[in-house]
Amino acid sequence: MYRSRETARQTNSDNLGHNRHLPAPTKTKNRSALLMQTPIIQLTDVGAAYNRGRERVVALKDVSLTINRGEIFGLLGPNGAGKTTLLSIVEGLLRPERGAATVDGIDVLTHPTDAKQLLGIQLQRSALLDDLTAAELVRLYAALYEVDLSAAQATELLGRFGLSDKARVYARRLSGGQQQRLALAVAVANDPRIVLLDEPTSALDPRARREVWDMIRQLHDEGRTIVLTTHSMEEAEALCGRVAIIDAGRIVACDTPASLVGNLGAAPMLKTALELPIDAVRPLPGVRAVRYTGQHLEVETTEPQLTLAALQQMATDRGRIIGEVTVRPPNLEDVFLKLTGRSLN
Ligand SMILES: Nc1ncnc2c1ncn2[C@@H]1O[C@H](COP(=O)(O)OP(=O)(O)OP(=O)(O)O)[C@@H](O)[C@H]1O
Ligand SMILES: [Mg+2]
Repeated sequence: MYRSRETARQTNSDNLGHNRHLPAPTKTKNRSALLMQTPIIQLTDVGAAYNRGRERVVALKDVSLTINRGEIFGLLGPNGAGKTTLLSIVEGLLRPERGAATVDGIDVLTHPTDAKQLLGIQLQRSALLDDLTAAELVRLYAALYEVDLSAAQATELLGRFGLSDKARVYARRLSGGQQQRLALAVAVANDPRIVLLDEPTSALDPRARREVWDMIRQLHDEGRTIVLTTHSMEEAEALCGRVAIIDAGRIVACDTPASLVGNLGAAPMLKTALELPIDAVRPLPGVRAVRYTGQHLEVETTEPQLTLAALQQMATDRGRIIGEVTVRPPNLEDVFLKLTGRSLN
């Protein structure tokens, strides 16, 4: 049913010794279709809770989820939704109160060590030991999985994450973006088939974020399954083949970003910095819905041109000027709002 620990270790060593990482998958339609149909992570009716003093905090309720081999799968949800809890169960770090979890057919609850051999893990708050160099860290983490990396192999691995000149630099001396990339290198030091990334780009500037995205795509191109958590609909749309939207411990939707947005049947969103009463805007031509996000008026409209002309007229009548106007197609943020009644961030 599952690979023994010995076999898993053997395969890891083989990959590291010869062709360190999995060969890039042949990108034929059939192969990717096949990959997408093979479950690699399965959760069934999982419930989880924490005890905070006397209080019991329910973190996951009846979560069932199948992630297939070769996917980049996103868990998208706001603070406290249960994303880290879900990953912790897959990682064998938290025991669910109810339900079952398997990794490549291995029961995480009864065979946690075997399951962990298949996983590369990046925790939400990367606990990189400050007083070790980048090369020492990747070797240490590989060793935790009983994979022996030479100094040259460690440097080569770092090179794949743009850190070859940082091998001898202490982790604490790296920039935020470099530390995130080091955390990725550490996560794949054991050459895992499955990589679990908890908010891999949080607190990064847009450029550093894109660099990390490229590296995640590279790990995926090598044939690995990637599961990542994010607050960012932009990240989910940019990276993920499928996304589970998670809110208050429940998965409220799970599909491709395009289907999630398509199923919403929403019209384009017109956004501008203008203060007008919502009740006055609602009857304008084309308008389906109106809301304020911060200082911005957001109008869902089937007729952006007509709505804008009417808004301009209304603003002029009230002695106001419309600032910059943007019109965008509906996105995952709108899906989240529709499903939960709240915005993502
Ligand atoms: N160690 C803990 N002790 C008590 N409660 C916890 C603990 N960890 C998480 N929780 C609670 O469980 C719920 C889910 O938390 P979790 O960390 O899984 O959310 P998250 O989606 O990862 O949030 P974030 O985006 O902020 O990382 C929250 O209500 C949180 O307060
Ligand atoms: Mg979290």
